[in-house]
This record gives sequence, structure tokens and C-alpha cells, in this order.
Amino acid sequence: MPKLSIRDLDLANKRVLIRVDFNVPLKDGVITDDTRIRETLPTLEYALRHQAKVILCSHLGRPKGRPVEAMSLRPIATRLRQLLDKLFNESENVAFSPDCVGEVAKEMSRELESGQTLLLENLRFHKEEEANDPAFAKQLAELCDVYVNDAFGSAHRAHASTEGITHFVAQSAAGLLMEKELNFLGKVLTEPDRPFVAIIGGSKISGKIDVIDNLLDKADTLLIGGGMAYTFLNALGQATGKSLIEADKVDVAKAALEKGNAKGVKLLLPVDHVLADKFAANAKTQIFSGKGAFPADWMALDIGPATIDLFAKEIADARTILWNGPMGVFELAPFAHGTNAIAELVAANNDATSIVGGGDSVAAVHQAGVADRITHISTGGGASLEFLEGKTLPGVAALTDK
Ligand code: 3PG
Repeated sequence: MPKLSIRDLDLANKRVLIRVDFNVPLKDGVITDDTRIRETLPTLEYALRHQAKVILCSHLGRPKGRPVEAMSLRPIATRLRQLLDKLFNESENVAFSPDCVGEVAKEMSRELESGQTLLLENLRFHKEEEANDPAFAKQLAELCDVYVNDAFGSAHRAHASTEGITHFVAQSAAGLLMEKELNFLGKVLTEPDRPFVAIIGGSKISGKIDVIDNLLDKADTLLIGGGMAYTFLNALGQATGKSLIEADKVDVAKAALEKGNAKGVKLLLPVDHVLADKFAANAKTQIFSGKGAFPADWMALDIGPATIDLFAKEIADARTILWNGPMGVFELAPFAHGTNAIAELVAANNDATSIVGGGDSVAAVHQAGVADRITHISTGGGASLEFLEGKTLPGVAALTDK
């Protein structure tokens, strides 16, 4: 990594502000998935064992610049305390500051002792955070001696806590999670073991076309599934009934197919489909194969068995697998089979480095019970997409060069 790492810093007795991404799903104040918190534990443990005074800051949800009780980070402090207790085998106290800036935050950060942790309230309770306001960034910087960014999931945002702050601190370093994400995703784009197979799904081409375009320069094979496959099939002249189509993206799909041809990338589309007579779990279904027109009133909601077999061969031979986006409407049980099958196939290839990113495919590997057999599951949704598009992430660019 060309950027400074937390490992390069002298942390002892320093107040270390760590930007984390604790933007976790909450239901009635209860955390329903604490992956993002657990994934920061290596960085927190490293800092605490090196006698840092740890100050954590994060956003949660989109409160639009004002305090919203339901988006308070207070429940996160409780969960973090439990996780740290297990890690250190003793009772850890995670202090909580009801504001991320101002007198209380200042006072609490000053009183912190080495090996102690303080969590600040939601950064986005201040509109200045998302506006990347310099005065606000400076206030955050004043809480610490060194700054660490471990929030890969927010690295595509140029906000005060991810970008602005770096102008007001002497050193800005990547945390261990940030490093891990950049190493895995970076290797995929720069020196993947080959064959490199990318599996791209999801409902719309519009959200993924820049990733597809970039991967057409890098991957050996692209497997396309999910709703977006039907815009591609339309581009090839197939009538796809009531399946989801982005009419204004047919040309974009055509251009991607042409680029794939020109580059010698094997771009595979579904060859059979699970059709439904309506978008519902109790829909009538049928398997449709071939290049003919779909029955006019039916829509494709999953890939069919022949497509799974076709994709299986490519996945089994791969040495690098990147997966982003489900193969069908996997949240409805009758249409989850394709996505679950892909999850199993990716996990079954022990010879490949497998990387899964994006909320839905991450949920799918958990649903299929294979998460522990995936090499790297990214904590970034939008951030991992932008990275795979080849974009520079502002939160990474702003870190101090080594
Ligand atoms: C995410 O969940 O992708 C990150 O935490 C960023 O959240 P945002 O899209 O609200 O900026």
C-alpha cells in the first residue's frame, strides 16, 4: 500500500481518532447485523494493545444534518463493549459522547487514558459532515493527535470525517480493515490470478455498467445474471416478455457486448430462465430455454438450471472470482435458487481467491450458509462498486503517502 498504515504510527499515549463505518442495520434500536462492527475489531485491538487512547467516530443512516434519536450510535457503544469484553477477557468500558464535536467531546477525549475507548455520537447529526465543512473537520481534528481511517464502506464519500480532517492532522493512516479491503480488491484489478471470473448481477444495468466496463478490461470471463441480463438479451434481439428492461440502456448493453467481443472476454448471459406470471412468491412458474421470445405476459425472476450448469464450469476453473449482485429475486424463496447455487459454487472452489461485495450478494452468501468459505467479503457497498469502477476513493486518496 502506498499509504501510511496504522502499523507505521507510534500510538502509545496518543489520542487516535479512528473513522469507522458503524452504519449497521437497526430494527427498533436492536442491531440486526453487527458484521461492520466486528470487522473493525482487529484495528481496535491493535490500537488498544499499543496503548492508544481510542476515539471512534462514524455515521449511521441519513439523518440529514440534525439529531434523530433512532439513528443514535448509543446502541453501538453497548454492542462494542460486549465485543471488546470478549476480546480482552475483561470488562471494557466504552465511553459515549452525546455529540461528536463541542465541549463535551473535547472534555471526554482529554480525559481518556491509554487503552480506553470513546465513541462519538453520529457525525451526520451535523450537516457540516456531509458538506465537508473545513471548520467542522478542524473541530474533529482537535480531538486527536493522529487520525486513522478504517471506514472502507464510506471511503467513496468526501466528507469532513473521511477527507476534510486529513488537512488538519499531521498523519492520516489506513486502519487494518481499510488495508485488507484495498489489498483484496486492489489485487483483483491489478494482478488477479487467472482465469479471473467476474459474476455480476442485480436488477439494473445502470448501477453496474461502469463496473462491467472496467471489468471488461481486466477479467477473462464475465457471467451476467439478475434483472440486468434482460436488457442484454434485448440488445441481442430477444423479446423477454414482461421481464425488467431498461429501454434507455439497450445501447449501453450492446456496446458492452461489442467491447467484450473485441477484447476476447467471454461474456456469458443466461441461457434459460425461471419465468413467473407475476412478481410474487405465489406466482405460477415455468422454465424457459432458448433464444425465442418469452411468453408475452411472463417475466424472468431467476436463472434456470442450464445457466447454473454453464456458470458452474467457469466458476470451477477460476483462480479469482469476484461476485457482485444476485442472479434473481432471491428475497422471494421460489426465485432464490440461482443465487444460492452461485453462492455454493463460489464457496466450493477452494483453489480460487473469492471476493464478494455488495449488500445483496453478501446477504446471499450468509443465507446460503457459506460465508466462512469465501476468501473476502467486502464491508463496502457503494465504496466497493466505485473501487471496482476504477474510481479513486476520496477517503483513500486523502491518506498520508508512505
Ligand atoms: C454504506 O452503507 O454504503 C456506507 O456506510 C455509506 O453510507 P451512505 O451511502 O449513506 O453514504
